[in-house]
Amino acid sequence: MKYQLIVHILDNKPVKQIIEVRGWLRTKRDSARMSFLDINDGSCLTGLQIIAEEKLQNYDEIRALTTGSSLRVLGKLVHSPAKEQEMELVADEIEIYGTAAAETYPLQKKRHSFEFLREINHLRPRTNSLGAMARIRSSLSHAVYCFFQERDFFQIHTPVITTSDCEGAGEMFSVTSLNLDKLPRQNGKIDFNRDFFGCPASLTVSGQLEAEAYALALGRVYTFGPTFRAENSHTSRHLAEFWMLEPEMAFFDLNDDMDLAEELIKHLISHGLTNCREDLDLFARFIDKNLYDRLNSVLENNFTRIDYTEAVDQLCQSDQQFTYPVTWGVDLQSEHERYLTEKIYKRPVIVNNYPKTIKPFYMRVNDDEKTVAAMDILMPGIGEIIGGSQREERLDILKSRMQETGVNPDDYEWYLDLRRYGTTPHSGFGLGFERMIQFITGMANIRDVIPFPRTPGGG
Ligand code: 4AD
Ligand code: MG
Repeated sequence: MKYQLIVHILDNKPVKQIIEVRGWLRTKRDSARMSFLDINDGSCLTGLQIIAEEKLQNYDEIRALTTGSSLRVLGKLVHSPAKEQEMELVADEIEIYGTAAAETYPLQKKRHSFEFLREINHLRPRTNSLGAMARIRSSLSHAVYCFFQERDFFQIHTPVITTSDCEGAGEMFSVTSLNLDKLPRQNGKIDFNRDFFGCPASLTVSGQLEAEAYALALGRVYTFGPTFRAENSHTSRHLAEFWMLEPEMAFFDLNDDMDLAEELIKHLISHGLTNCREDLDLFARFIDKNLYDRLNSVLENNFTRIDYTEAVDQLCQSDQQFTYPVTWGVDLQSEHERYLTEKIYKRPVIVNNYPKTIKPFYMRVNDDEKTVAAMDILMPGIGEIIGGSQREERLDILKSRMQETGVNPDDYEWYLDLRRYGTTPHSGFGLGFERMIQFITGMANIRDVIPFPRTPGGG
């Protein structure tokens, strides 16, 4: 039985009920004739105290148990005389599934640093903080599906292996079945005709282009899955493998796109506040004392929407010394993004209409011909959490943008077809799921909000 259910029993029924629980030993305290075992089954943060009395037939083995052992306990749930917990379980029977040698088990009863825990990614979900993170992540993932289902979106499973570089940034991991020790060559170049797909292929950097094809058939779609970028960024906001949520909507312009993105962020925050309270309390206690005020203030205020040009003006007027100087035409760095949200506006900021020279080929060119209908959502403490745009629906302009940005239109005939046949205005965006979890939990490092982080130089 899960502890979550035990709490339910307590709320509704008198105690002294016989129940069975299974879980892992966190700590143990011994007195003369009994032992107190704090066990946790992972279903929620709270553990359950087990009272193991001397009369138990395997009492000697129980007394020798150490942190990390796994157990099954059958016993009576009673009100606890101690003030630390409401109830405890007086064991009639304890079965030991597996022990954990104290000399080698790395998770002893003390607070471990997140850096240390990253060295034992396979065991860290047994800690309070990483366990809470995993439960919050799961709950928010569910909330994503509900949000879109309730709004009549269709989920599209876009491919992980692809031949297109959506962002045009060349940050792709190659996928090949060629023998790397004996690459076939033709005129000095690798002969990809002999590769598995007959051409170079890679892991997806975004499901957007494929989502566009489905949006231009089904109206409103989204894709949510793993995304891969071989960018050599050693920051607390970048992973080589992360999860991106990408909605794509036919007949949406940039304003509709921004409205949906703001609604989504607020929905995920309020879902977390309502459904993950016990786990969030842990982060509010140990990670970010200001967590609830921070989250509530996002819910209560509209996001500020400004043009890129205005953002640059604001940054230039400030007396802050930035490592990277700001002028019209440069891409905003994390330090600029954070200054805008944390110092100037003190709330989430949506920056739109960026210079076309710093954005990918698919964004719609504005009438000024210098900017594109792009929008980035910047969050306090995080910086960019969403990148999106209205898409270029005009065939000729799209082709010339491809050429300008070094993308060969011949490789994207299928994508151009979407503009040849029944083209429409449409828009979409991508939300970095880990950055969203960082924002909600206050966790400083993105490596601690995904179970097995993939980063440059480390598996
Ligand atoms: O701004 P990006 O690159 O946008 C796209 O990929 C578009 N194709 C999305 C679309 O319009 N459908 O990435 C979107 C978001 C970023 O704002 C960021 O939150 C996250 O994905 N992201 C990363 N998260 C973790 N590690 C990385 N290396 C990330 N790169 C982007
Ligand atoms: Mg971006």
